Parts: sequence; C-alpha cells; structure tokens
Amino acid sequence: MNESAYALETRNISAWYGKDQVLFNVSAQIPEKKVTAVMGPSGCGKTTFVRTLNGLHQTNPQARATGTILLHGVDTSTLDIVDVRKRMGMVFQRPNPFPTMTVYENVLAGYYLTGCHLSRQKGDEIVETTLKKVGLWDEAQNKLFKAGTSLSGGQQQRLCIARAIAMEPEVILFDEPTSALDPKATAVIEELLSNLKTEYTILFVTHGLQQAARISDFVGFFMLGELVELGETKRIFVTPQDKRTEDYLSGKYG
Ligand SMILES: Nc1ncnc2c1ncn2[C@@H]1O[C@H](COP(=O)(O)OP(=O)(O)O)[C@@H](O)[C@H]1O
Ligand SMILES: [Mg+2]
Repeated sequence: MNESAYALETRNISAWYGKDQVLFNVSAQIPEKKVTAVMGPSGCGKTTFVRTLNGLHQTNPQARATGTILLHGVDTSTLDIVDVRKRMGMVFQRPNPFPTMTVYENVLAGYYLTGCHLSRQKGDEIVETTLKKVGLWDEAQNKLFKAGTSLSGGQQQRLCIARAIAMEPEVILFDEPTSALDPKATAVIEELLSNLKTEYTILFVTHGLQQAARISDFVGFFMLGELVELGETKRIFVTPQDKRTEDYLSGKYG
C-alpha cells in the first residue's frame, strides 16, 4: 500500500508506440467523486493516457508504458488486470454496445464476460437500477430484449455507461464520449455526470474547452504528451500558471 489521498494517482507515466514516445512522465492526482477533465489538442496523448490507466494501451504489442498507477493507493501492477478493468470502467468515443446482445444483455455484459453467474432475479435488479442511474429506464424498459444497437446514438452511449457501472466500478474513464453525438444527446450525458459523480470518480477526456469548463471540477491540460498543469477548473481557466495553458485557452492551438 502506497500513501495516496486520491482515488487515482499516476506517478511518472511514460508511454510509447514502437520507438515513438507519446507520454512523458505524467504524474496526475485524480480526486475521489469529482469530475476531472483531460483536455488538450488532438494528438497530445489524452486517449493514450486513459488507455494506459486500465491497461488497454499495453495490450497493443507495439506499445509499452512505464510508471506507477495507484488505485486508492494500491499499485495496479500488483492486481489482476480483470479486476483493474472492473474497478475502472471505460466508455469510448463511439457508442459500442455488443451488436449481438440485447439491451438487457449489454448491461450485464461485464458479468457474462468475466464468467460471473447471476440469478435471473439479481440480473433483473441490476438491469433496472443501472438503467435508472443512466436515465434510460423509461425509454428502454420496453426494449430490453431488442438489440442494443437498435437504440439511438445517445441511448446507446448511455447503455455503454450502464454496462460500465453495472460492475460497480470506483472510477469511470470517458474518452470523448459525446464526440459522435448531437447537441441534445450530449447535454443528456453531461447532465448525467453530476449524478454519477456522487458515486464514482470520473475522468473525462474532451478536446472541447467549453465542455471541460461546463462539466468538470478539476482539469488537466495535456500538450505534446506532457501534463502541463492540473488543478481546479475555475483556477485553471481564470489564472493558468503555465504560458502553454494560457495560449491554449486563448485559442492559439485551435
Ligand atoms: N495505435 C497507434 N500507433 C501509433 N501511434 C499512435 C497510435 N495511437 C496514437 N498514436 C500517436 O500517439 C500520439 C497521441 O495520440 P492520442 O493518445 O490518440 O492523442 P489524443 O487522444 O489526445 O488525440 C499521437 O502522436 C498519435 O499519432
Ligand atoms: Mg483521443
């Protein structure tokens, strides 16, 4: 057990694709039950950073990462990777419900995939409470046994959030989850975050400055694979400490 007051903490994370280093000694503290946005220009390493946290980056044989990741003070390299992924759910850029599964099965997919048996009653219970948490129950309760992919894009993305939270994670990693959605579906997801953060620690990648400002309590600004600064959103937006952050906020990097 390492000392860490944070839900999630990284110490000197570096990452490579082949010989190309794309993250440089990223040390970040992610506070519990808050929304922390990860922002920065395209290609700065946001996706690589979140994928490194739950070990997805390292599944690419060309890729590697070094450094320490502490989940509630425990070095994740000492934990079973299946356990790490359960405890750190992930939601991707494009809604990706399993196409062969129903809405109901998609919510429980994490249990099926980890070989965890659920009684019918327990399954029903998880599906209902989880779909309620993501605001999808009213819309989907009559479509539980239809394909997950038959829902609208915004509903599919909420289904993917449901799939992550059904496993009762501690942290949810979101990688630009609204970039494929229209403004209305985006607003629904953004609203949902304030409910989710009462129970979960949220790390939310966005390349949108306004979105980061709207949704986050804390924000980390990445550039060229470095974490330039991380702090309270208001403080970063009003009084950035680094010239690079100031330039980004004033629109210099687009
Ligand atoms: N699968 C990959 N193979 C090789 N290079 C990659 C791969 N994915 C991303 N990169 C490179 O890594 C850097 C960081 O990319 P990424 O983490 O996707 O940034 P962001 O999410 O901020 O746009 C970029 O230079 C990108 O070109
Ligand atoms: Mg990305």
